Amino acid sequence: MYLCTQIRILYKILINIVSMNIKDRVESLQAQVEKMNAANQQELETLRLKFMSKKGEMGELMDEFKALPKEEKAQWGQTVNALRQTIEARFNDLKTQLAEKNEAVQEKTDLTRTPDSVEMGSRHPLSLVREEIVDIFSRIGFTVADGPEVEDDRHVFSLLNFAPEHPARDMQDTFFIEKEEGVQKPTDILLRTHTSSVQTRIMLSQQPPIRVLCPGRVYRNEAISARAHCFFHQVEGLYIDKNVSFADLRQTLLYFAKEMFGADTKIRLRPSYFPFTEPSAEMDISCDLCGGKGCAFCKGTGWVEILGCGMVDPNVLEACGIDSKVYSGYAFGMGVERITNLKYRVKDLRLFSENDVRFLSQFESC
Ligand code: PHE
Repeated sequence: MYLCTQIRILYKILINIVSMNIKDRVESLQAQVEKMNAANQQELETLRLKFMSKKGEMGELMDEFKALPKEEKAQWGQTVNALRQTIEARFNDLKTQLAEKNEAVQEKTDLTRTPDSVEMGSRHPLSLVREEIVDIFSRIGFTVADGPEVEDDRHVFSLLNFAPEHPARDMQDTFFIEKEEGVQKPTDILLRTHTSSVQTRIMLSQQPPIRVLCPGRVYRNEAISARAHCFFHQVEGLYIDKNVSFADLRQTLLYFAKEMFGADTKIRLRPSYFPFTEPSAEMDISCDLCGGKGCAFCKGTGWVEILGCGMVDPNVLEACGIDSKVYSGYAFGMGVERITNLKYRVKDLRLFSENDVRFLSQFESC
């Protein structure tokens, strides 16, 4: 008898705990429903999952409700049902509100409106001129070759007849790259000073006829001013075949000068020195500002220098595995900045690398 009373009391306590739980849950849900809100479809879906799915709040409440003893079920049935209806009604309200909002946005969107204009970029003057140079030479059979900017001494100097420690190396001082100390220290890794290094790579890997143009960025350690740049751009050319003569070189360069600067352009070759060409020359074109009479731009001479050139030194051909008794060739190299300057009269070379749109946009129509 005593045991029976005990069990009954325990049972009552248990029922109380369960209904306490359901009470808490119902109250908490009622509070949350009032705050239910969704700014977009995604938030609405989150609400649906949180409250209405089987594993959501309502699902759990139903599980708890089902576990209640009979008399408790009767007490809570109506409340739970009402709560479910409130949640569903709130959800449907939010759904309608969102749909209406979307419609309003769509009504306001004018699909026939002229779109905002897109600012088009322009080609960089150096790219324009490089492409023009390449275009002119490609019309007479030159193809384009590319090579690394981080080079080694062999391809930039040794193969091109620059003896070690020879003063000619001072003509092209550059930046040497060292690897981490203690690991390996190859002092012969450097930034290329000219794209002639691409020419050595071509000569090492191909047999003549070779007719190639090498455009690219090159580096020199020249502190002309504190703000001077240590790189510029070149286009170099190389032609090797049987019986190539200085006359071929001169005629090719005359053709280039006329195509680039106009049919009236004259050229003049002055003797010069490069370790990799023999004979070597600097080429001037007639000053197109004064028509050759002499002005401030050409310093009164009527001529402006535009490139270096010469016949490839037999030592270079041999070093690169080409028989200098069978083949001969010419090479030339020009600075793209210089040619661009002559073409567009850009006063300050720094403008080429400052990315100032007021300067760059002037070349849009070129
Ligand atoms: N490589 C030379 C320079 O960068 C230019 C050049 C190329 C001169 C080929 C002669 C022949 O100054």
